[in-house]
Amino acid sequence: MAGKNLQGKVAVVGGGEKNLGGLISRTFAGAGAKVVVHYHGSESEAEQTVADVQQAGGQAVAVQGDLTNVADVRRLFDTAVDTYGGVDIAVNTTGMVLRKPILETTEDEYDRMFGINAKAGFFFIQEAGRRLNDGGKIISLGTSLLAAFTDGYATYAGGKAPLEHFTRAAAKEFADRGISVNTVAPGPMDTPFFYPQETPERAEFHASQALGNQLTHIEDIVPVILFLSTEGWWFTGQTLFPNGGYTTR
Ligand SMILES: NC(=O)c1ccc[n+]([C@@H]2O[C@H](COP(=O)([O-])OP(=O)(O)OC[C@H]3O[C@@H](n4cnc5c(N)ncnc54)[C@H](OP(=O)(O)O)[C@@H]3O)[C@@H](O)[C@H]2O)c1
Repeated sequence: MAGKNLQGKVAVVGGGEKNLGGLISRTFAGAGAKVVVHYHGSESEAEQTVADVQQAGGQAVAVQGDLTNVADVRRLFDTAVDTYGGVDIAVNTTGMVLRKPILETTEDEYDRMFGINAKAGFFFIQEAGRRLNDGGKIISLGTSLLAAFTDGYATYAGGKAPLEHFTRAAAKEFADRGISVNTVAPGPMDTPFFYPQETPERAEFHASQALGNQLTHIEDIVPVILFLSTEGWWFTGQTLFPNGGYTTR
């Protein structure tokens, strides 16, 4: 594949309607890919993302789904195959965050956190492994908390932690088809996902822990994802930490 050209490729983007996923969908389409934009609750944002892609001359389709239901994960990939004839790239940006002490965390919260961060992450990789063309790429979104030592994020970082192991196993199991599998783990990112869990003071502290005293921006993550989807194919089974050197230690 020459450069970062995705001409002729088909991409499924889990949570592809807004924030990081929305920018991935638009960028992939701009690079020539046909994009299946998955969304959960944000239908209008999905419609807007698809409209933006189409206005720019690209092709995209929106698919709703609760990816904690395996049937919805399968339907998402079915749509890609039925609409565009196959899938080459699968990026899962879905996730849910909770900052709460262990002693206060309920069983329901634990189940919801592990449902979307771990279970959906596993079955997304499984279905991608079944449906991707040879030479495909699978990318999951982790968090830099995977490499941190902090309080309050047990079910978030803990729920995302299995992705690293799913990624390694899938990298080995799909290698004979030339499929690379990676996890991208950004630092605290300047999107509406981050702020409700943090006080303004803590948000400032998080920013102070990275290069240039700033939070991670989605514009700094998308090039990493595009690279892994194109020239970066030799990375596999890895967790990449694009985070400006962020640490909470
Ligand atoms: N922002 C940060 O500080 C940060 C830092 C590091 C890593 N990350 C990771 O980066 C990814 C993208 O985050 P973001 O900041 O761009 O926020 P975001 O847009 O809110 O991404 C989360 C996505 O997951 C979807 N989702 C939640 N529950 C779902 C379910 N049951 N089924 C299907 N989809 C579901 C959300 O849809 P609905 O909103 O409609 O439910 C949303 O599209 C996430 O995996 C996050 O963990 C974020």
